[in-house]
Amino acid sequence: MIETIVHAGEGTKTLRDVASTLDIETEIARLRREKNAVILAHYYQDGEIQDLADFVGDSLDLSRAAAETDADVIVFCGVRFMAEVAKILSPGKTVLLPDAAAGCSLEDTCRPDAFRAFRATHPEHVAITYINCSAEVKALSDIIVTSANAEHIVRQIPADKPILFAPDRHLGAYIMRRTGRPMTLWDGICIVHEQFSERELLALRARHPGAKITAHPECPESVLQHADHVGSTRGMLRYVIESPASEFIVATEKHLIHQMQKAAPHKTFIAAPGVDGSCDCARCPYMALNTFDKLYLALVNGAPRIEMPEELRRRALAPLQRMLDMSPPAATSRRQTVGVAAE
Ligand code: 13P
Ligand code: SF4
Repeated sequence: MIETIVHAGEGTKTLRDVASTLDIETEIARLRREKNAVILAHYYQDGEIQDLADFVGDSLDLSRAAAETDADVIVFCGVRFMAEVAKILSPGKTVLLPDAAAGCSLEDTCRPDAFRAFRATHPEHVAITYINCSAEVKALSDIIVTSANAEHIVRQIPADKPILFAPDRHLGAYIMRRTGRPMTLWDGICIVHEQFSERELLALRARHPGAKITAHPECPESVLQHADHVGSTRGMLRYVIESPASEFIVATEKHLIHQMQKAAPHKTFIAAPGVDGSCDCARCPYMALNTFDKLYLALVNGAPRIEMPEELRRRALAPLQRMLDMSPPAATSRRQTVGVAAE
């Protein structure tokens, strides 16, 4: 198996090595200019990282931003598969991930050897794979999708062609319900979306009868069946901006609410509850590994840095490029975008 390598860097500095009086925000701004770096952040990052980033978006818009940037360095504030996508699409650039351990539970459920065996037992099928997977699994796939374009892309597959969908079984089942298209699903889940509780959600809505529920398709069907809207993070953001309602229950990682509050400060947003009703579980533990301090150190050290064998990159590029070619038109890129133009 060929793995992507995240280089720790030589002579790596830790926070103890830098003066405690340092104004980290000013230093990040200085280093960003000095190194011609762009900071990309997913909606699931802490608010302070989102506010500092040059571009904030969902995984589809971030892929496009990584492909289009003319910066020399991309600091990817997201999880490893997202930074890998940036490297696959922009091989000439240095791609930094503030914490090398920022993985994804969906990626963990789909190891390349097991996926290769899955494909081998379904040789006639086209393999459509959610972007939340390793570079090696991408390389073993026919077409990559995100939650923003999965339905649009599945609808383009000829009706007589059987489909394998991996690794998120909830997103796959949702697309099957939307399109009426049978698909053979990989049995993966996201640990964040899996824990939302139907019982607690209904109890919360009973206390907020006017609230609309917006949910990410990684949620189980028991949650999605109560949603007024289902969409990618960008789609959820657009929904709350455009909806005439003033109160929303948000069933995804809670940091998306930061952009919602910025875009619609007069509206109220409530994070969907987990199984015990009071836990702080709508929080991705992998995204949370990236901190302001680690972002600064990544710029100082030029590491952790995504590297991958060119042969793997090329194989992973083909299904990613198919995704970009088959996607609906892109949202307009702009600094601090809230990505509301498409979907
Ligand atoms: P988006 O495709 O909406 O950005 O979601 C990514 C993700 O990791 C959801 O858990
Ligand atoms: Fe992966 Fe879930 Fe975190 Fe998204 S929220 S990055 S799917 S673990």
